[in-house]
Amino acid sequence: MTEQADGDPEGPDPTAGRQRGSTRPAPGPAPRRVASIRDVAAGAGVSVGTVSNVLNAPERVAPATAERVQAVIEELGYVRNEAARQLRAGTSLSLGFVVLDVGNPFFTDVARGAQEVSQTAGLSVVLGTSDQDPAKEAAYLDLFEQQRVAGVLLTPVQTDAAMVARVARRTVPVVLVDHRGDDPRVSSVAVDDVAGGAMAVQHLLDLGHRRIAMVGTPSVHVVAARLEGARRAVAGQPGATLELVDTDSFTVPAGRSAARTLLRRPRAERPEAVFAANDMLAVGCQQAFAVQGSGAGEPHRIALIGYDDVELASVTSVPLSSVRQPREEIGRTAVRLLLEQIADPAAPRQHPVFTPELVVRESTTSGVPVWG
Ligand code: RIB
Repeated sequence: MTEQADGDPEGPDPTAGRQRGSTRPAPGPAPRRVASIRDVAAGAGVSVGTVSNVLNAPERVAPATAERVQAVIEELGYVRNEAARQLRAGTSLSLGFVVLDVGNPFFTDVARGAQEVSQTAGLSVVLGTSDQDPAKEAAYLDLFEQQRVAGVLLTPVQTDAAMVARVARRTVPVVLVDHRGDDPRVSSVAVDDVAGGAMAVQHLLDLGHRRIAMVGTPSVHVVAARLEGARRAVAGQPGATLELVDTDSFTVPAGRSAARTLLRRPRAERPEAVFAANDMLAVGCQQAFAVQGSGAGEPHRIALIGYDDVELASVTSVPLSSVRQPREEIGRTAVRLLLEQIADPAAPRQHPVFTPELVVRESTTSGVPVWG
């Protein structure tokens, strides 16, 4: 066994060159100085390189020495300086994940799946939210590149070929999430949203509903696909109609506002059923429906279905029917593709598409009571 000095693995001593014996009054209890690798080496009577070997290549250190060093590490509470190591290595031990809205549990569920796989590779996941703004998206992609993240997951605001070309030109590996693509330069992970939209509306048609409203904005490509599926289902049912109530976002307040638009109509002109483009919109609709109008008689009922099947869907006052997306699996799959590309930049790009699943609960089988 040999002990070798491998130089200073943490870079210059951050405390070096500090003004000693400052004339200013002591600012209160001095913050506890973080033990450095040099403190560990001094405490164990070995070189800095030997401490580095104990941490990174223990097979190169005599067991008795390694034991002595580990004892000093524990005594001093030393924690390795990953930031310095990453700076030296040229890439950080992080993945960036740009989502459309970090307030939407769909994305945090996808991020949970992503983290399950990334941490097996010793990588963390750093979230950024574009709020459906291409400029914010570009700013986060630039920031992640400057931070030398190992790779990036991106739910893109735009879906055109120009977006894919821009992503392909990035120096950092990128995998598109919640995007249906086939570009040989960029991997993507998607769900068949046309099938999902058709599934949601066919369920309402099968319950006998004919006047159907869809709530959401097709300005986001996955919702445009859901709308296409909804239209195909309605086209197959004589006498059925579908109207779109556009929204400016996918939040609970946007759902409430859309539902209030419908409630301003006489009951006979309201839809019999509502397909909300995601569960947050559906929760907002349900909240607006539940508000008791002044002097309202008996409530009537509207069937309501959402999309994503986030945890909230099953615990709303009237449990929500929804179209389940395999959120954690989307995240796991996206990171697996990204890790393959990081390991081998020439790895063939892949474009898996998951099939969503209908989840039926009371909000369609019994409908949601609508007061007013
Ligand atoms: O971002 C809006 C919606 O698109 C999310 O709720 C999820 O359904 C995603 O696919």
